[in-house]
Amino acid sequence: MATSGTRGQWSGQLGFILAAAGSAIGLGNIWRFPYSAGEGGGGLFVLIYLLFVILIGVPVMFAELSLGRTTHRNPVGAFKALVPKTLWPAVGGLGVITGFFILAFYSVVAGWTLGYLFSSATGGLASAVDGESSTAIFTSLIGSPLQAIALTAIFMVLTVTVVRGGVSSGIERMTTILMPVLFVLLLVLAGRALTLDGGVEGFVYLFKPDFNELSVPVVMSALGQALFSLSLGMGAMITYGSYLSDEVNLWKAGASVAGFDTLIAILSGLIIFPALFSVGAEPTAGPGLVFVVLPTIFNSMPLGEIIAFLFFALLAIAALTSTISLLEVVVAYFVDERGWSRTQASFAIGGVCLAFAIPSALSQGAVDALGEGGLFGWDFLTLNNNIWGNYALSLGAMLICLFVGWKWGAKKFVDALEAGGNKRFALPGSSIVAVLIKVVCPLAVLLTLVYIVITGSYF
Ligand code: TRP
Repeated sequence: MATSGTRGQWSGQLGFILAAAGSAIGLGNIWRFPYSAGEGGGGLFVLIYLLFVILIGVPVMFAELSLGRTTHRNPVGAFKALVPKTLWPAVGGLGVITGFFILAFYSVVAGWTLGYLFSSATGGLASAVDGESSTAIFTSLIGSPLQAIALTAIFMVLTVTVVRGGVSSGIERMTTILMPVLFVLLLVLAGRALTLDGGVEGFVYLFKPDFNELSVPVVMSALGQALFSLSLGMGAMITYGSYLSDEVNLWKAGASVAGFDTLIAILSGLIIFPALFSVGAEPTAGPGLVFVVLPTIFNSMPLGEIIAFLFFALLAIAALTSTISLLEVVVAYFVDERGWSRTQASFAIGGVCLAFAIPSALSQGAVDALGEGGLFGWDFLTLNNNIWGNYALSLGAMLICLFVGWKWGAKKFVDALEAGGNKRFALPGSSIVAVLIKVVCPLAVLLTLVYIVITGSYF
């Protein structure tokens, strides 16, 4: 599996863009973005998030894709190929571990989308008319320990099945059709939400920054969200770039993925916040936010039941194209570096990951069913979300930038980024990208981490 000839490959530029966008677009945009923005005070969070996407996300996207396409290896193998016998491959190792633990909480929320899909098919969402009634549905839907675990398990099985089948045909074919449908549906929903009673209020909340909300945890969470949403900081884009042919315009492909992803996040904010204000829910509701708010807006629409079903089906699929990329990184490592078969690796890692997902699955309501205090009274899902989805990704992104900017070297990086077979795709402002990679990204992450350690203001 080590050379480009024997590994899978995307069919071309468009196939890659859609598959990578499939990895990037997922629960991060529709579940995590509104919930983080709500906890981070709205407009200010969104502003910092957008700055981070441009100043850190896009350069790191370029860096990961170049590393992948140049080496045609998994994250650990990529570093080994460029700098053998150094400690740098450990950065890839951190990525593999991070991917595993993100999958362990992500699959729980992905399981909820299946629960909502079943409910929307059986009319179980019909009574969600305001914040209170909808919260009750959410609590009962995810509140049974058995159900929470079963939904997670079903989702893990789906993920394992696709990854076991290999990358190119399955993932690519699915995303090509479904991503455009999801986009159109989100547009329709945003149109409905903005014309609701609280529409304007929600719009203002999303785009008007309140600088009193500024704090280091909010900055950290916006940085984590930018990386999480773009699938960066752990080598997923190294892996996806490794299946790319040498002829593709890498920076254009990377920039398109970042653009689509950001569009979808903003669009889902334009759905959630207007709807939220119209039903009187709280922006700080946490991980349940989207699940509480969305059914109320479906119920206010003509053909709402069908739209709800379609929406949760697409959301589950969007989540699946993301979980696939998370599992794929870990599997690619065991296949390339440890000589496991793809089938062996997919089943074994999926199984172990499911075991690690159980505490998170039980920590959102089901814990009460286990009795007082439950699992030490810890919200494992939020904790893992913060540790792996904010801190580990930020650390990973910083190390990738340091490697690409200083060890591999900005010159080689820009060359790899602009290379296209016999052609050369000159990147406008490539020297700015080099400065961002070498100085701005690592420094921004470092300062944030140091400040947090010194002040102890972790979350
Ligand atoms: N980006 C995906 C989302 O927004 C989640 C995801 C998939 C991810 N692969 C990743 C996050 C790799 C971080 C790293 O839903």
